[in-house]
Amino acid sequence: METIGIGILGAGRMGESHAGVYEQLNGVSVQAIADFDESRAKTFADKYHTQWVTDYKQLLDRKDIQAIDICLPHTLHLKAVMDAAAAGKHILCEKPLEVTHSRMSSMLQVCKDNKITLMPGHTHRFYPENILTKKLIREGKIGTPIMIQDTVTMLGMQEGCPRWMGTHELAGGGILMNNGVHSIDRIRYWMGAEIETVYARCGRFALDIDEQVEDQGTLMVTLDNGTYGTSQVSWITPKPLGTCSARIQGTKGILEVQAWCKTVKFTGLFENNTEEIPVEGESGMMAEIREFISALRENREPSVSLNDGFMAVSGVLAAYESSQTGQPIKPIKY
Ligand SMILES: NC(=O)c1ccc[n+]([C@@H]2O[C@H](COP(=O)([O-])OP(=O)(O)OC[C@H]3O[C@@H](n4cnc5c(N)ncnc54)[C@H](O)[C@@H]3O)[C@@H](O)[C@H]2O)c1
Repeated sequence: METIGIGILGAGRMGESHAGVYEQLNGVSVQAIADFDESRAKTFADKYHTQWVTDYKQLLDRKDIQAIDICLPHTLHLKAVMDAAAAGKHILCEKPLEVTHSRMSSMLQVCKDNKITLMPGHTHRFYPENILTKKLIREGKIGTPIMIQDTVTMLGMQEGCPRWMGTHELAGGGILMNNGVHSIDRIRYWMGAEIETVYARCGRFALDIDEQVEDQGTLMVTLDNGTYGTSQVSWITPKPLGTCSARIQGTKGILEVQAWCKTVKFTGLFENNTEEIPVEGESGMMAEIREFISALRENREPSVSLNDGFMAVSGVLAAYESSQTGQPIKPIKY
């Protein structure tokens, strides 16, 4: 493969963010943007010196496009993946892959049948501070991992945030489907195990969003290596208190990672001082897209697997069921 041609679907926040990365990579070119909003598509095309269309199907038979990058509202992912895969295009699909098990299974099957590389866009796996945390756990810095407290809190649905994110029809859920998938993915990634059960409470408490979608949730999860953890996600946290962070407890101490501030700290169990461990590396989005392109060039599976994408959503769906039934739920496996 020489230059890899990309077609981006969705000229919104993530479409822009991805385009900014492709611009900096060698051997890749954004050949066109598709957005059903013509003025958005045109503005994007001017900014990134590319072509635009309003119907993404016009990109699917183009020989100069080898991969489709899906940055659309959640419930539009299924059709876009099915169409792109049937046309033989490789796919980077923003998280969440989709919003139900059956929709995810259909899209994953069509990719397998057509030998398409599909990478779920779990950016958090590529944040340098999160990679460093994983490395430290693997090297035994905290001894044997026991427990994780993962937190993603913010003031949600603020200016600049698309309204569809608070709708059941296009988002398939609220904070959990939007950001809880990151939290569950981080827990699986750092603890190196599969989620076994989810016990949760979630609901819509304060925001003016669809009644069926939640603005806050708390999950208690157990993993199949005996570790356990909590995930606290909230869209109703005052701005100064917002955080994307985790505390990972092991037999020898605790690692604290602050994703938005890029800090990693270690405190030994019987020590009184905290060591700050320097974080180095490129942005998560750059690293994620670099991985997608490398996987295509090297004809291999990307480091974020279909199972990772599926299980992050499956964990969220288990949380919804648990919140409704009051019971711990085993997430459906891929
Ligand atoms: N990885 C991350 O950290 C991260 C952060 C934010 C959002 N996301 C994900 O990125 C995806 C997109 O979110 P966003 O914030 O960019 O949304 P957005 O609303 O900013 O952009 C979506 C774009 O899709 C367009 N669109 C809608 N329907 C279309 C259609 N049928 N055909 C073509 N274009 C259509 C809209 O006009 C809009 O421009 C979601 O899956 C979201 O969860 C990921």
